[in-house]
Amino acid sequence: MARIIGGIGTSHVPSIGAALDKGLRDSADWKPFFDGYEFGKQWMRDAKPDIAVVIFNDHGNTFFLDKVPTFAVGVAETYQPVDEGWGPRAIPPFEGAVDFSWHFVDKLVERHFDPLVCREIEVDHGLQVPMELFFGRPERWPVKILPIWVNTIQYPIPTPQRCWDMGLVLREAIESWPGDERVVIMGTGGLSHQLQGARAGFINQPADRAWLDGIAADPEPYRAMSREDYVEQFGSEGAELIMWLVMRAAMDPEVKLLHKHYHAPASMTGAGMVVLENAG
Ligand code: DHB
Ligand code: FE
Repeated sequence: MARIIGGIGTSHVPSIGAALDKGLRDSADWKPFFDGYEFGKQWMRDAKPDIAVVIFNDHGNTFFLDKVPTFAVGVAETYQPVDEGWGPRAIPPFEGAVDFSWHFVDKLVERHFDPLVCREIEVDHGLQVPMELFFGRPERWPVKILPIWVNTIQYPIPTPQRCWDMGLVLREAIESWPGDERVVIMGTGGLSHQLQGARAGFINQPADRAWLDGIAADPEPYRAMSREDYVEQFGSEGAELIMWLVMRAAMDPEVKLLHKHYHAPASMTGAGMVVLENAG
């Protein structure tokens, strides 16, 4: 059986990657943000995962509004970082955990999920940025990945409960996998932000800070909230937070909150992260 060694929640704002590309890590604007991730980077070095399951959304870079899968899962050998318009980035391609990914897909279908299965696809900042935040800029990524895409872009997005249910299947897939890999689960997106419409620029710092504690200690209310509640509390793009529920549901009911960090704003977003371990 493979083993869940930790759960990560993190923002995936694209300008974080751009700041690293431009060498702005220690600039006055960015240093407080990046310093908050040092604990997470060290935790990752010590935890030595073999596989990172990354739950994120595409932002019109590999899917567009003409075709939007509610859930998609990658089973590819390799994932290239997609060029989002500023040219190719100096980060290596991501190696897929192919057999384990197929096992997860099979388990999903057995449990009545019907994902889009992707044999060939690129990954955007939703995956790139969290990987850089926790693994730095290695020549080669030290983990294989299982990417899971959730539609948080175009109405209707999946319910928080559905994301939670997928997390339960993810746990089942990890526990029924005959290998002995160490698996870290990374739920990405959020925290509060709205990039469009009348409330563009909306950030809700009290709700964000409550989220970072609540997702660890008492996630139940967040699972029970409606999609509209997420948009109201966290903004239309802050509804990306439903993807953290996939990670949280795969963890034990009781977890240790090893570290949390919050910085607002990063670009237009309340940026936050948590590092969780199962309590047992
Ligand atoms: C921003 C945040 C996001 O989560 C995203 O996907 C794109 C942009 C931002 O704040 O700029
Ligand atoms: Fe996003």
